[in-house]
Amino acid sequence: MNTQLRQVGIVGTGMHVPPETVTNADLEKIVDTSDEWIRTRTGIRERRRAMDPEMATSHMCVLAAQQALDDAGIVAEEVELVIVATVTPDYLFPATACLVQDRLGARRAAAFDLEAGCTGFIYGMAVGRQFIATGTYDTVLVIGADMLSRVTNWEDRSTCVLFGDGAGAVVLRPVPEGYGVLSMVLGSDGGGGKHLFQPAGGSLMPASRETVDKKLHTIHMSGNDVFKFAVRVMDNATMQALEQCGLSKEDVDFLVPHQANLRIVDAARKRLELPSDKVCVNLDRYGNMSSASIPVALHETLKEGRIHKGDVVLLVAFGTGLTWGAGVLKWWK
Ligand code: UT7
Repeated sequence: MNTQLRQVGIVGTGMHVPPETVTNADLEKIVDTSDEWIRTRTGIRERRRAMDPEMATSHMCVLAAQQALDDAGIVAEEVELVIVATVTPDYLFPATACLVQDRLGARRAAAFDLEAGCTGFIYGMAVGRQFIATGTYDTVLVIGADMLSRVTNWEDRSTCVLFGDGAGAVVLRPVPEGYGVLSMVLGSDGGGGKHLFQPAGGSLMPASRETVDKKLHTIHMSGNDVFKFAVRVMDNATMQALEQCGLSKEDVDFLVPHQANLRIVDAARKRLELPSDKVCVNLDRYGNMSSASIPVALHETLKEGRIHKGDVVLLVAFGTGLTWGAGVLKWWK
């Protein structure tokens, strides 16, 4: 038996965000907030919100995925597994990944959804990587997508200013030794689940007139608790991921952090002693797109030509669960 694991890398990326923009000034008209508060506390200036009722998470996934396939120079029939990381699937079942598999025409592919909140993309990468490393599959599509606007309470100023809709996709394939994913770290603390959750709509509290009236199908968050958790785990996870592959913070060329709050991103950047131009930031334009935030930030930075072959790229995220994850890649392509 061949026990040699294969190296796995990202060979194509894509993204989609809805065309409709919601600015801080727009939000000032619907809740008691201000552009100044939102900018100074979060760094967010505007976000995207899918206004077309016909658009759902799967539609954003397909657009992002097709772009990633084109970028990788492959066709959908070559994909063997579709993983969609999301907390806002089109339906509770079937899986959004199956809808995407069908619409893409990925006839040979298995498909499933994975839920790890804003850490979902990193969890998806870790899972997809295993299938390729072990030789089970050669081509895996990992998509991070969320349409949080559909589960937002637009009367709750503490959450409605934060989130945006979007999807990001990557194609994973074997890459030469020394390149691709060098390490991945995942973690969870279910005890903190109460800090960020959607109370109704699951088996514990199925939809009823009361749950709708009380807006229990929307995001409930204790922002400050999540903030403190985020700063702590981003630091721990990045250091662990670097240690696991024998690198140190001096080796990092690019940081692609989850885009929740500029203050959290800055804390991670300072810990790594990186200059601002070595950190991907797009939360000012998109807000927090949950599991889409890292693949979209990565895609945009690549298209700007800021990441080169051989660069050490560090991904790190945190999210509902609570969960966290980090990965170190030596860029291939
Ligand atoms: O991807 C994971 C998802 N979640 C997150 O990443 C969230 C992480 N947390 C955060 O980013 C920050 O905690 C927030 C941006 C959510 C809040 O910032 P904060 O500095 O932790 O503020 P706070 O929650 O302690 O609230 C401070 C004040 C409160 O008023 P009082 O009680 O001091 O009078 C809030 O009611 O700010 C008030 N506030 C607002 N004021 C104007 C909360 N939201 C708003 C708002 N506009 N939109």
